[in-house]
Amino acid sequence: MENKRIAVFGATGKIGSELINRLSQEKVETIAVTRNLNKATPHRFIKWVQADISDIQSLNTVMENSKAVFLLSSPGPDFVEGQKNVIKAAKQSGIKHLVKLSSGAADQNSAFYIPRIHGVVEDFLIKQGIPYTLLRPMGIMQNWLGEIAENVKKEQKFYEATGAGKRAHVDLRDIAEVAFKCLTEPEKHHNQVYSLSSDVAVNYYDVAEAISKAIHKKVTYIPISLDEARQEMKRNGMPSALIETFISYDAAQRNGETEMVTDCVRTILGKPARTIENFAKDYADQFRSLA
Ligand SMILES: NC(=O)c1ccc[n+]([C@@H]2O[C@H](COP(=O)([O-])OP(=O)(O)OC[C@H]3O[C@@H](n4cnc5c(N)ncnc54)[C@H](OP(=O)(O)O)[C@@H]3O)[C@@H](O)[C@H]2O)c1
Repeated sequence: MENKRIAVFGATGKIGSELINRLSQEKVETIAVTRNLNKATPHRFIKWVQADISDIQSLNTVMENSKAVFLLSSPGPDFVEGQKNVIKAAKQSGIKHLVKLSSGAADQNSAFYIPRIHGVVEDFLIKQGIPYTLLRPMGIMQNWLGEIAENVKKEQKFYEATGAGKRAHVDLRDIAEVAFKCLTEPEKHHNQVYSLSSDVAVNYYDVAEAISKAIHKKVTYIPISLDEARQEMKRNGMPSALIETFISYDAAQRNGETEMVTDCVRTILGKPARTIENFAKDYADQFRSLA
């Protein structure tokens, strides 16, 4: 019998859950992986299995009868080992295509933690000879639903250390749609590296304006220094490797090094990428204060 399933790692996460919805809607038989089955949401055509990528034994049968794998996990101490475990198990299971969600800055020689760990895994994957696709988001709009949304709700202001520098953040719903295309039309995407952006680079003055229009209230972006941003992350207890990674992203944006836009989303989806205006309208409730 021909293997036809798709195995999705990271299926309960923000990108993975959008991907699972789409696979279910399109009636694609899918194995969705989680460490905790209590997080599994029922969907037609989706079979949930429990596995931990840090434990290679738990992966033994996960990819049986699958032809393709989507690999996503969150940065942490076991990230490289865990992702390598999935790749090794995929090779053993005869997987024909592996789509890895990576980082826009991936580079195994980077001085910074997140780009480095993604770069190390990318290099390992490429050397295994499994046809691959690397998805490298250059920044994700839904990051703004964290601290920025909290501050907007509280005081209609938010603080960032990027000055007037621009970046073409991509909406994660577009990332999930691109992943779906790569997984379901694999030959077109074998051994490709896609840097994913929206079609327009924006700064935080633009983001403030888009949110203001969406919630019909003036929202103000307050630029802060890189050191102020660093101190704030320290106060929040973030590990220093992550702080220095995020400061390096901010510094690059501040210095005008992140204005590039790619046409990957538009070309692969055959439609324009979602804009900050689309994003602000769709998520307006998350920026509105309850008062
Ligand atoms: N935010 C950005 O701007 C940005 C930009 C570029 C790239 N990225 C990359 O995007 C990824 C995060 O995506 P996201 O926001 O969709 O993730 P998320 O919402 O944080 O979810 C993480 C997912 O990873 C799974 N996972 C983590 N550890 C696991 C393990 N040991 N075994 C099995 N599954 C595990 C979790 O599954 P369970 O908890 O259910 O087990 C969960 O489904 C990261 O790799 C990050 O570096 C982010």
